[in-house]
Amino acid sequence: MKVITVGGGAREHAMVKALARNGAEIYASMGNNNPGIDRLAEETLLEKDTNIREIVDWAVDKDIEFAVIGPEAPLGKGIVDELEKKGIPCASPCKRAAEIETSKEFMRDLMAKHELPGSVEYEVFDDIEELEDFLAHYSGDLVVKPVGLTGGKGVKVMGDHLESKKDLIDYSRKVLNENIGGTPRVVLEEKLVGEEFTLQAFTDGENVLPAPLVQDHKRLFEGDEGPNTGGMGSYSMPDGLLPFVNRKTYEGSVEIIRATLEAMRAEGRVYKGVIYGQFMLTAKGPKIIEFNCRWGDPEAMNILPLLKTDYAELCRSIAEEDISGMEISFEPKASVCKYIVPEGYGFESIPGSHLKVDEESIKREGAELFYASVDARNGEIYTTTSRSLAVVGFANDIGDAERVSEKALSYVEGKNIHMRHDIGKPDLIEDKVKRMEALLGDSK
Ligand code: AMP
Ligand code: GLY
Repeated sequence: MKVITVGGGAREHAMVKALARNGAEIYASMGNNNPGIDRLAEETLLEKDTNIREIVDWAVDKDIEFAVIGPEAPLGKGIVDELEKKGIPCASPCKRAAEIETSKEFMRDLMAKHELPGSVEYEVFDDIEELEDFLAHYSGDLVVKPVGLTGGKGVKVMGDHLESKKDLIDYSRKVLNENIGGTPRVVLEEKLVGEEFTLQAFTDGENVLPAPLVQDHKRLFEGDEGPNTGGMGSYSMPDGLLPFVNRKTYEGSVEIIRATLEAMRAEGRVYKGVIYGQFMLTAKGPKIIEFNCRWGDPEAMNILPLLKTDYAELCRSIAEEDISGMEISFEPKASVCKYIVPEGYGFESIPGSHLKVDEESIKREGAELFYASVDARNGEIYTTTSRSLAVVGFANDIGDAERVSEKALSYVEGKNIHMRHDIGKPDLIEDKVKRMEALLGDSK
């Protein structure tokens, strides 16, 4: 089975590993020379993920069965539409379906129009005076989001990144004037209070096969402090739930995803691929923070290594738009993923550090290693300005998985690197459980 993959991060390394495990022959296009992907691929193309024409031209003469796209940027630019025009089916959404991530306005409008569960209150503005008028009559806490893509770094939360209404207006003005996210429009939405979790699911547009839940940690520093990043690490539990999410909430969240996919179908935007729901569990149940049109990074690294079902076969069925009759299963294990990033990441990264990685020892400990934005030169590995690599510990319980991930981290050496050691540790998890209990207690 010949497959094209697009993307050169740790998420794509996890996708390529899972495809290779099931015997697929991989042709990988990537923007940086990811040594993990390079090793597994039959052939690679070094090309920016958004250079669609070059990637499609490279793909056409390879007799490819299907393509899987990792990152949101090429999906937002319509890479699937272009590949499919050339007869290469894709296990990822077309441009109009990817808008569920690439336009926060489209996503909120869709949920409101179809009265979907998990919706939140919101308003969209392209004019700063109208926004100021609205604020004059609004008293609750709000969140400001550019409508377009910002790599998870454009969202500002009142009481957190924004102190006052004036800060909120100043930031909104900046988004409008500087076209942050590529569209001079801004969404204001109600600030949700609770705990976040991720639910990812495979879909052909109609049938939904959900994965275990994951909790990502977006903040740069330990104790969930500092700026939002692409994600510093994540964990999952053997039963597929989280310590603060029960089965009923899980099922309710799957229903939100199912209803959203049905609404997309009704709008003539059949969504196929992996859909990613970022949820906030609030006192009023799970609410949608955002949808992503792809695997999460780091969440893919928690889930894909545990997938027992043939991933290549699943992708082929998604590309053929029919997963009815398919079932999926996962190893009932806990996972703890921790990212190593360059010092200064989130502010001004210090790139170019040499990393010494003892892959054999990492494997021996029961962990997996996923390369992200590193440069491989002459057999050596150097950091860039983005996240460098992730290790994931697996075990029968979360405590052991965390210890395995820490042991694995000790086999990576380098100067000017940063990581969070607290992810997956009992203290951090207990804090979250207690906060959730207090919130639910307050609501009774
Ligand atoms: P996003 O890029 O939409 O995932 O937002 C980044 C982060 O901002 C989320 O992971 C949340 O921590 C926070 N956030 C986004 N929307 C809201 C909201 N409506 N209420 C509270 N926090 C939010
Ligand atoms: N982990 C968040 C994301 O992939 O967008």
